[in-house]
Amino acid sequence: MGAALRHLAAFADLGADNAAKLLSVAAQYKRANPNPLLSNKTMGLLFADPSLRTRTSMDQACFRLGGRALGLDVGAGTWKLEVDDGVKMDADKPEHVREAAPVLSQYVDGIGVRAFSRSGSIAEEDADQVLQAFKRHATVPVLNLESAREHPCQGMADVLTINEEYGRCQGVKVALSWAPHIKRLPRAVPNSVLLSAAAMGCEVTVAAPPGYSLAPGVLAEAQQLAAASGGKVVQTEDQAAALEGCQVLYAKAWGPTAAAAPADDPQLAHWMPTLSHFDRAAAEAIFMHCLPVRRDVEIAAEVLDSPRSRVVSQAGNRLYVQMAMLAWMYGQV
Ligand code: CP
Repeated sequence: MGAALRHLAAFADLGADNAAKLLSVAAQYKRANPNPLLSNKTMGLLFADPSLRTRTSMDQACFRLGGRALGLDVGAGTWKLEVDDGVKMDADKPEHVREAAPVLSQYVDGIGVRAFSRSGSIAEEDADQVLQAFKRHATVPVLNLESAREHPCQGMADVLTINEEYGRCQGVKVALSWAPHIKRLPRAVPNSVLLSAAAMGCEVTVAAPPGYSLAPGVLAEAQQLAAASGGKVVQTEDQAAALEGCQVLYAKAWGPTAAAAPADDPQLAHWMPTLSHFDRAAAEAIFMHCLPVRRDVEIAAEVLDSPRSRVVSQAGNRLYVQMAMLAWMYGQV
């Protein structure tokens, strides 16, 4: 029997100890390009949803490690993909993951997959069906490029950014605050920010209006990680309370838990961070967001353009964290 594949489909595949190791490896890779650890390796990157940062930073991460990336747009240049088991495939999806994943595994050395939540339901998020199907059927390591439940590449880049700013994550006070949007966005990013920050010892307050809480399963996992790391995870519906003394304001839109709730509720517009939202924060507090961001809908332009904003360097950190993740997946870390 060969060694078990090192999938990275969820934070749980990595765990807190490996996550801490990856932060230090990513920081090294930022200082100096590593040896070509992935020479002659190809990553197949399947995108069922659009991307600017993930697609380009993964391509570049493979290149800098001496490998290559092969980007595939699912349903636009490849066949549409069925992931449900037991269905009669008489609709618009001519290929099943049961064949696609093992076939691709014969051509490439790893498979990255981006597939957002379609319904926004907690059940779909918990099942994380597409990533789990690839994990089951691929015979090479699988990397999550943002799924229904998690976006580990983003969460790890975010804790690298916090670590760079404060020289540590332990005890850093993070307000993870819901923000308004015109669309029902998935919860994968806030889920991963929460899991990574809790595992690295941050004190995270998740602030969201009634009806917009994160899923109980993710909150419970984050509580466990925080208990082990000496961090803290609390929830509130009071944004002002969350901002009190925070050192990081991480704002992000995500959808309501009830299917019937509107995505765009004008009553909640005051949740959009402006510079005045920093009045209660620590003097040195920084602003973070995963991007893309709708200016003056989700976040005030004055915040994004202010010296507090780290959104560009935060996105830059995706490259180094993903290089470290790839190195880990192939046993080089
Ligand atoms: N934050 C992030 O994943 O950006 P993209 O959707 O552009 O990849």
